[in-house]
Amino acid sequence: MTHSKESTRTGTLIWISGPVVKARISGPISVLEQVHVGEARLAGEVIGLNHGLATIQVYEETNGLRPGEPLCGTGAPLSVMLGPGLLANIYDGLQRPLAVIRDQQGIYLRHGSQAEALPSKKWNFTPRARAGDLVHPGSVLGVVPETQLIEHRVLIPIAVEGKLIDIARQGDYAVHDVLATVEDAGGARHPLTMVDRWAVRTERPVQERLEPSRPLITGQRVLDTFEPLAKGGTAAMPGPFGAGKTMLQQALVKWCDADVIIYVGCGERGNEMAEVVNEFQRLTDPSSGRPLMERTIFVANTSNMPVAAREASIYSATTIAEYYRDQGYAVALMADSTSRWAEALREISGRLEEMPTEEGFPAYLPSRIAAFYERAGRVRTLGGNEGSVTMVGSVSPPGGDFTEPVTQYTQRFTRAFWALDRALANARHYPAINWQTSYSLYVNTVAAWWAKETAPDWQALRSTAAQVLEQASRLDQLVQLVGAQALPERQRWILDAARLFKEGFLQQNVVHPIDAYCAPAKQVALLRLFVELYQVGQQVIESGTPLARIHQVLDIRRLVQIKETVPNDQVDQITQLLSELKARVNALVPAERKA
Ligand SMILES: Nc1ncnc2c1ncn2[C@@H]1O[C@H](COP(=O)(O)OP(=O)(O)O)[C@@H](O)[C@H]1O
Ligand SMILES: [Mg+2]
Repeated sequence: MTHSKESTRTGTLIWISGPVVKARISGPISVLEQVHVGEARLAGEVIGLNHGLATIQVYEETNGLRPGEPLCGTGAPLSVMLGPGLLANIYDGLQRPLAVIRDQQGIYLRHGSQAEALPSKKWNFTPRARAGDLVHPGSVLGVVPETQLIEHRVLIPIAVEGKLIDIARQGDYAVHDVLATVEDAGGARHPLTMVDRWAVRTERPVQERLEPSRPLITGQRVLDTFEPLAKGGTAAMPGPFGAGKTMLQQALVKWCDADVIIYVGCGERGNEMAEVVNEFQRLTDPSSGRPLMERTIFVANTSNMPVAAREASIYSATTIAEYYRDQGYAVALMADSTSRWAEALREISGRLEEMPTEEGFPAYLPSRIAAFYERAGRVRTLGGNEGSVTMVGSVSPPGGDFTEPVTQYTQRFTRAFWALDRALANARHYPAINWQTSYSLYVNTVAAWWAKETAPDWQALRSTAAQVLEQASRLDQLVQLVGAQALPERQRWILDAARLFKEGFLQQNVVHPIDAYCAPAKQVALLRLFVELYQVGQQVIESGTPLARIHQVLDIRRLVQIKETVPNDQVDQITQLLSELKARVNALVPAERKA
């Protein structure tokens, strides 16, 4: 998008302060217009216009820029290029293709960074409309097999409506080849290619917003079972440094059941991002066996890249997400970390000498965070299909203090809250999601799916488990005072059950070959195993059986390992084990007492 249009001189630089510059205006220019700054033609965007002065944020290093150099407008807002070839790519915040290198810095702008965002290869286009058809924004002109996982639907652009007067035959075409012509009601002709452009700060329109209804399955038990996310929903993932935000985000990128994934590495370390991308190049999709890259797009603005481009990266990524949504796909956008994005806002605002509010953030911080998450949703697209954008943003509060503004506002504008916890991470309980402070407002939304697809009593199972965990945390405080031996056996059994849930269910190893991804059916089978063993144990204790006898039958250390020994496709083993163990526990009660 750095090369969008011929540009002409519209001003002269007079002031330079890091990523912010000011210019005296001599020609037409508007707010949010994309500009070229200086002799070097650095990419920038007008963020203010006042009394003949333009304020510009610059997306590249401004070292060496001098007053007197030219400012050139492009006549267009900051936008991204949309079309086949986005998938499997790695972009910076301005949609310039990046090269990933395994070393200290990790990620570089590819040589010839003026290169187009979309590859110049030819795509096999199959028309889906015919000459004479009336076409509307969002209707499908034709399809292209973008990757083996994703069919790219070439849509009629938002501004075009009328009669299709010609359309290309099936064949191989480059993205800029004209494939069709539409004549509108006024008789004007619009040549169409595979490429659309869209201004990143403007939401792409939809026919209708719908309530989320289906879960986004992540394969992470603590999320799917206890704090579920819905397709089209929003989740905040706050946690102190080192609590496992990046690891969990990456697990979601790998395993979640969205069709298309956009991962935004925002302000984090370049080598960390390079590791992810390198790892991705080896990973395959468990359901299709195809490389996961085929459904994934990376947007990287690592800590070594200019701060303003970090601000833009969120919008570029969101626009790309909406573009695949409009093709009828379930898209998931993961942003790591939105705090670095907020810090970019703060830095730019500081350069502008705006009045700071809490912790130096600008007063518009909450509205920016809200506007970002509002672009998530399940929708009826203009073309009449259903699509969704799900958003998960990690938040890195300084010192792990959740009362700071970015965490607070993010919590306000999202509906699932996954709080990562220092104490759990220190205890190597991963994912370090605190099950007491985390919550999801999507439980009732997704319950119907779980009840239908897995078990009618899903809600009851998860609330029994939650109650046990809740009771155990109260008992834990007592144990610290008096010791576990002082508790009645009924309560000690609650502590045992809580251990089953914590170690056997909530804890999950992201790198374990069997445990990394836990399918819904296995999640329910494990949950039922522990819930029903807890209940049967409770009954036999009530009837006077000593806890020690139960321990002879139920080896807790072995039970918590089942998650790692039973693969997703052999869930029957868990069901069978449950009936065997239940029978053995019941047999502890002498026959005369049962009567
Ligand atoms: N799910 C996990 N399983 C195993 N180790 C983990 C897990 N999550 C985090 N870790 C450990 O914690 C370290 C820091 O995690 P990371 O995701 O980089 O934290 P953050 O992004 O919150 O700063 C990792 O390098 C890893 O050693
Ligand atoms: Mg991190």
